[in-house]
Amino acid sequence: MEGNEKIAPSVLVIYGGGGDLTWRKLMPALYNLFLDDWLPEQFQVIGVAKSDFDDDSFRAHVRNGIDQFSRSGKTTDDAWAKFSTYVKYIDGDFEDDALFAQVKTRVDEMEHAWGVPINRVAYLAVPPKFFELISKKVSESGFTADILRGRLVIEKPFGRDLKSAIELNDLLHGLYDERQLYRIDHYLGKETVQNILAFRFANALFEPLWNRNYIDHIQVTVFEELGVEARGNYYETAGALRDMIQNHLLQLLCLIAMEPPVSFDADEVRNKKVDVLHAIRKFLPEEVHSLAVRGQYDKGWIEGEKVIAYRKEPDVSPDSNVETFAALKFFIDNWRWQGVPIYMRTGKRMNEAISVITIQFKPVPHHSFPAATNENWQPNRLVLNIQPNMGIRLRFQAKTPGLKMLLNPVDMQFNYAQSYTGTTPEAYETLLLDVFQGDATLFMRADQVESAWALLMPVLNAWSANSSPNFPNYEAGSHGPDEAQAMIAKDGHSWILTPIDEPDCR
Ligand code: BG6
Repeated sequence: MEGNEKIAPSVLVIYGGGGDLTWRKLMPALYNLFLDDWLPEQFQVIGVAKSDFDDDSFRAHVRNGIDQFSRSGKTTDDAWAKFSTYVKYIDGDFEDDALFAQVKTRVDEMEHAWGVPINRVAYLAVPPKFFELISKKVSESGFTADILRGRLVIEKPFGRDLKSAIELNDLLHGLYDERQLYRIDHYLGKETVQNILAFRFANALFEPLWNRNYIDHIQVTVFEELGVEARGNYYETAGALRDMIQNHLLQLLCLIAMEPPVSFDADEVRNKKVDVLHAIRKFLPEEVHSLAVRGQYDKGWIEGEKVIAYRKEPDVSPDSNVETFAALKFFIDNWRWQGVPIYMRTGKRMNEAISVITIQFKPVPHHSFPAATNENWQPNRLVLNIQPNMGIRLRFQAKTPGLKMLLNPVDMQFNYAQSYTGTTPEAYETLLLDVFQGDATLFMRADQVESAWALLMPVLNAWSANSSPNFPNYEAGSHGPDEAQAMIAKDGHSWILTPIDEPDCR
């Protein structure tokens, strides 16, 4: 226990309490917040679902999830004995007003018994088709009537295009104050993603170089080895552009490209981020084919295992036109970034599971060393490794030891596993703690979500209007379709993957 300042008395009601997100992510995150001493005595988490659970069987289910997925390993009997007293279950149908009234009454009674005002958080861990229904009923029940203490957390996907995102925002703004809304993008809770802000704005060294005068181009790669797994139904309505680029990758870009915030006030940071989205050059319909590449995985091999093609996955149409890979080229039209290309790519069933941001600096203006010394010369490169190995690597030239003058690129490396002991909090721990503490910095504001959709609409429209003639166009376990290599090669660049080395010791 670290003796953290505990959160105010709070109740978290998870709609979709019987689902996978609650089981794998939310409950293990709460358990770790409990172990790290963030949770007060006056705390309760209520799972709400339509299933066969009661309090006891729900607790057993929760414990089973924590034992499998918690970063701190299996529950101990002592810790569980205490934590389990926080966990409750209410069975009910989301269509039924009585369910929401029951939740509200339960929480009112708790507030009365505890004798203090409590934070009331409703968490929508449900498929998007329930967002409207539950957010209406939660609000109508009066659960979130106190603007300062009543909060609504919404998982992605937030809409599936600009129109539906605006409709959902309009609906929510009719029921809640924007300050009550916490739209999740779990990438923003990742330790290495938060560290982008620290790296950029707590160090004076890089800021003078962080612009078009010194940076040649930027690459963002988020590769997964996993396929769509059991999520074919959802993924058929999404694809890589909606599932990853609209949210996670564009948010990474905002953190890399934003201007320094005046303070870390939630709206100040979010204003600076949304400025980036506004400055990104719009795609013209006729440019989509040269600035965006889509792919879909075929059968192949991952880690020595044979895997099936996307079109053969459960709940996927055999002639699906949904992309499982997307690569795009952006420009940010402002003073800092004018003319600096930004390449982004993400895909499922790739050759590696890695998320990495590469800042490629411009070459030296003049090579003073004789050509023969320069054979291995590379421009400076800064690599921010988001996952799985976490760290930062700076590549520069050095003289190879010996009697001749030979230059070779070497790396300076910061590696979390070597620099820090202990395990890193999971994204959901950070995000849940922030919700309880009323800090929305790491959550998506309405205008951010809409700007990101607006930016991608020309690509989404072009891709849905024209089926890809060559799907599937990359083998599972490869680096994606050749067109993505061609897109960047046209500019004289190539995709870079420079993972952080595994540490020799921990
Ligand atoms: C989710 C996407 O938002 O992010 C998934 O819906 C994807 O398709 C996941 O697998 C990736 O998250 P992480 O944290 O594993 O990189």
